[in-house]
Amino acid sequence: MAMLKLSLAFDVLAFVFFLCFIMSTGSYQYFLFVQQWPPTTCAVRKKPCYQNPPSKIFTIHGLWPSNYSKNAWVANCNGTRFSNSLSPALESKLKKSWPDVESGNDTDFWGREWNKHGTCSEQTLDQELYFQRSHIIWKAFNITNILQNAKILPTGSKWDYADIASPIKTVTTKMPALRCKPDPTQPKNPNNLTMPHQLLHEVVLCLHYNGRVLIDCNHTSTCKNNLKILFQ
Ligand SMILES: *[C@@H]1O[C@H](CO)[C@@H](O)[C@H](O)[C@H]1NC(C)=O
Ligand SMILES: *[C@@H]1O[C@H](CO)[C@@H](O)[C@H](O)[C@H]1NC(C)=O
Ligand SMILES: *[C@@H]1O[C@H](CO)[C@@H](O)[C@H](O)[C@H]1NC(C)=O
Ligand SMILES: *[C@@H]1O[C@H](CO)[C@@H](O)[C@H](O)[C@H]1NC(C)=O
Ligand SMILES: *[C@@H]1O[C@H](CO)[C@@H](O)[C@H](O)[C@H]1NC(C)=O
Repeated sequence: MAMLKLSLAFDVLAFVFFLCFIMSTGSYQYFLFVQQWPPTTCAVRKKPCYQNPPSKIFTIHGLWPSNYSKNAWVANCNGTRFSNSLSPALESKLKKSWPDVESGNDTDFWGREWNKHGTCSEQTLDQELYFQRSHIIWKAFNITNILQNAKILPTGSKWDYADIASPIKTVTTKMPALRCKPDPTQPKNPNNLTMPHQLLHEVVLCLHYNGRVLIDCNHTSTCKNNLKILFQ
């Protein structure tokens, strides 16, 4: 009898471990939540943007399930295709937080982001949840506001990486990652007196696998170490 109980206990335990296993593994390990600065998106674009002039508010680029390993690019998974059937209430929120800055077709942008990225985390967030969660994080951590309060204004000043990352970390308590783009108006080989710089393009917050809690972002910056960052 004691033996039976023990074996039952063992089975229960094994089942619990199994559940934990299927719940904690998936086709990705964590999320990048990427917000873009529209003036930079449009400055590096070959054609003029639909938003003209682009709005000076950080808006969502995407929520990207990712893996820690650099050569494990997670994208284009076998999930359901974008069904374009988000609730009207959510759609009207997304028009503010997740507009298609470049071409002006918001649903098309949402569809491309879902099909490329959202399909890889569908086991955690279905289509409605994926967009809802993104909107909630955008609203909860207002990057535009955080930088404004830290007197980091888009007036063409140049900053060090930490000047911009630190105030964001103070508010969110987790390390963000910045993404930069080369300034297309800057000479390729700056053999002159102007200090070379890069443009602040995107601010990334990292999220746990469950898409609910923030975690530190590591090694996900695309900014060059030795260059000042222009915010304009
Ligand atoms: C990402 O990590 C998950 C879980 O560890 C793994 O199942 C998946 O194959 C990885 N994806 C890629 C593209 O390496
Ligand atoms: C999707 O499914 C197809 C066919 O079953 C397979 O060839 C392909 O590798 C899958 N892609 C991913 C990203 O899982
Ligand atoms: C926006 O994109 C969707 C999906 O690609 C398409 O069906 C629709 O016709 C486009 N709308 C406009 C106004 O171009
Ligand atoms: C974010 O902050 C900016 C600047 O303070 C403000 O204009 C905007 O209304 C805020 N957005 C939201 C969704 O609260
Ligand atoms: C960042 O590094 C810390 C400590 O090494 C680790 O716990 C965390 O998961 C990492 N986060 C990312 C997004 O790489």
